[in-house]
Amino acid sequence: MRTVELIQKKRDAEQLTTAEIDYMIQGYTKGDIPDYQMSAWAMAIYFNGMTAKETADLTLAMARSGDQAELGSIPGVKVDKHSTGGVGDTTTLILAPLVAAAGVPVAKMSGRGLGHTGGTIDKLEAIAGFKVELGKEQFLQQVTDIGVAVIGQSGNMTPADKKLYGLRDVTATIESIPLIASSIMSKKIASGADAIVLDVKTGNGAFMKSLEDSIKLAQAMVEIGEEVGRETVAVITNMDEPLGEAIGNALEVREAIETLQGRGPADLTELCIVLAAHMVVLGGKAATYDEAKVKVTELLHNGSALAKLKQLVGAQGGNEAIIDSPELLVSAPYQVPVMAAEDGTVSRIDAEALGVTAMLLGAGRATKEDQIDLAVGMVLRKKVGDSVRSGEMLAELYMNNNEPMFTEDMTQRTRSAFTLVTGSAARSPLIYAIVS
Ligand code: URA
Ligand code: CA
Repeated sequence: MRTVELIQKKRDAEQLTTAEIDYMIQGYTKGDIPDYQMSAWAMAIYFNGMTAKETADLTLAMARSGDQAELGSIPGVKVDKHSTGGVGDTTTLILAPLVAAAGVPVAKMSGRGLGHTGGTIDKLEAIAGFKVELGKEQFLQQVTDIGVAVIGQSGNMTPADKKLYGLRDVTATIESIPLIASSIMSKKIASGADAIVLDVKTGNGAFMKSLEDSIKLAQAMVEIGEEVGRETVAVITNMDEPLGEAIGNALEVREAIETLQGRGPADLTELCIVLAAHMVVLGGKAATYDEAKVKVTELLHNGSALAKLKQLVGAQGGNEAIIDSPELLVSAPYQVPVMAAEDGTVSRIDAEALGVTAMLLGAGRATKEDQIDLAVGMVLRKKVGDSVRSGEMLAELYMNNNEPMFTEDMTQRTRSAFTLVTGSAARSPLIYAIVS
């Protein structure tokens, strides 16, 4: 096979075979195919798309490009969840114990975050002592014993995706549905998922800003799941305002604990129940979605999921006392209220702008080398639809630095992320669609 011919084929909108796609991915991973040829190929895909079969072939080729988790020794259907990312998304910390409490094994490999706040792994490190690295045997044994383990990705998983994603980032080829869908699904398949629930965010704080694109992406991923025999359900959810109230690592751990205590924010609680219910159906622990929803709602409100989180924390060496006393989490010395400058109703909260502010406070990383400050971030006191009076608190900043100019800048940024209108303002639906 000649690389140039495969670029030409895609340029001319012809369909590539499984072997041709394997050749491109293996060649690129090994370094036999140079960046300039891969860039041209990615751009041809950007313009001409891929069929469902091609997209599935690309997914499997990338999933097999490096290490793959072997979860076969764990009994049961391993259901994984992926979120396309948003601001203050605390769902994994809630879902992992909740779904495990329902009897579905959760063998979760999570990432660190690049962006507004840390990833799940960074958040877990806000729990003193929590070990995010377990040996392979220990990881499998823990899932078999208590039904859940959450660890950082280790080894060399999906190197093809890492390399291609980096290349797409600098060649204007990120925004291609088959490339995004295969990138996400390859990582889930390499992590050993038998079935997958996707939370596809839509709105100003999301990767996909329009509902139409979000649905297309969801359909592409569900189709890949079908092609490769991993049952996949996608839930399209609102990211026009941050999910829940907390943005920041320790703050989100506290929010997760409160949610599992049954007193979390309504939107976060509802979304976790919906995602968990789909996972429980795919995991074979309920016959219907409605039955699963009743089951997980009960587990969330009767303390079973919270007890499972405590068990998870204990098993991985973390301080279990934090679950009963979240005030033991690291906390920032300065709490700065951000007040409304006028009366009104919140009609919009710019999730992206608040994410950037949280990052500037130190909650996230701009580059891989940046250190995260686990204690800082913000807690929203108002959400879309709430009325507010001048001088009332919109949000509270948690800061480690109270230098006046910095404080003023952070306060201004936060206040201007809130749009106030006179009269009432409608909330967007939390869930727009289910694709399966
Ligand atoms: N997230 C991914 O993992 N891959 C993409 O291509 C885009 C978003
Ligand atoms: Ca949150």
